[in-house]
Amino acid sequence: MGVTVEQFDAAGATAEDIASLKELVYRERIVVLKGQDISAAEFVELGRRFGKPEVYYEPMYRHPEHEEIFVSSNVATADGRVGVPRTGEFWHADYQFMPRPFGLTMVYPQVVPAQERGTYYIDMAKAYQRLSPELREKVDGTVARHSARRYFKIRPSDVYRPIQDVLEDIERKTPPVSHPTVFEHPVTGEPVLYISAAFTYAIEGREDDLVTELLTESGQLDASFEREDIHLQFLHKGDLLIWDNRALVHRARHADTSEPAASYRITVHDEHPFHPALAERPATVAP
Ligand SMILES: [Fe+2]
Repeated sequence: MGVTVEQFDAAGATAEDIASLKELVYRERIVVLKGQDISAAEFVELGRRFGKPEVYYEPMYRHPEHEEIFVSSNVATADGRVGVPRTGEFWHADYQFMPRPFGLTMVYPQVVPAQERGTYYIDMAKAYQRLSPELREKVDGTVARHSARRYFKIRPSDVYRPIQDVLEDIERKTPPVSHPTVFEHPVTGEPVLYISAAFTYAIEGREDDLVTELLTESGQLDASFEREDIHLQFLHKGDLLIWDNRALVHRARHADTSEPAASYRITVHDEHPFHPALAERPATVAP
């Protein structure tokens, strides 16, 4: 899975270059721009050329000067701030728990540990194709429920607060949302099985354990990460990854050592509705 692009020049890229890169992301799922050396501001500029950046709803993840950048980091900056460490260590699609997720995720590692840094991916369009006809029939036309509640990270400001108050905050700020369990990818036309182990907790109107069955079939409950359909993408200094946040679920693979690690992320809404049912929904940015 994925393609590598050499000698991409962010400053000199034409509109046609960006359009063909996007096309590549939709067809190949992951594009790795090699040898990038750009500032945080230039990363934001590049993100804007791909779409409308979504600022992460939880302020503790935001870059102090560029709110569009989500920072995953265990490294202290000069002013003593440390980012949020070990983010995304569970199968998920970004913003799946929000009413209007975004199409593209861009990640630009800043400090890459020598060992083990990487991201696992599963192609959920291919996962749908692998389902038995019986299971496809069961899932087609259904609606899945998603929530951030199980993987919400406790903020420094929540220390000493009653857990019930924190849980109520989560439900108020990010109430559960519904999305079609299978939708047609707006660019490739493929059906995508849009569920994740972290955020999807039910399929509406189904009492059975259909979610668990689908997660098992897709590989998201495999603890060995050795299935052929799980792709491990290693990250190197200078890599800038862009991936299709509709078709892929991903899971960070953090080093077990205490080596420094830091990464910037920008997420953008492209020009297509996230899924067909959102074509009519107004393009407001989630809170
Ligand atoms: Fe993520």
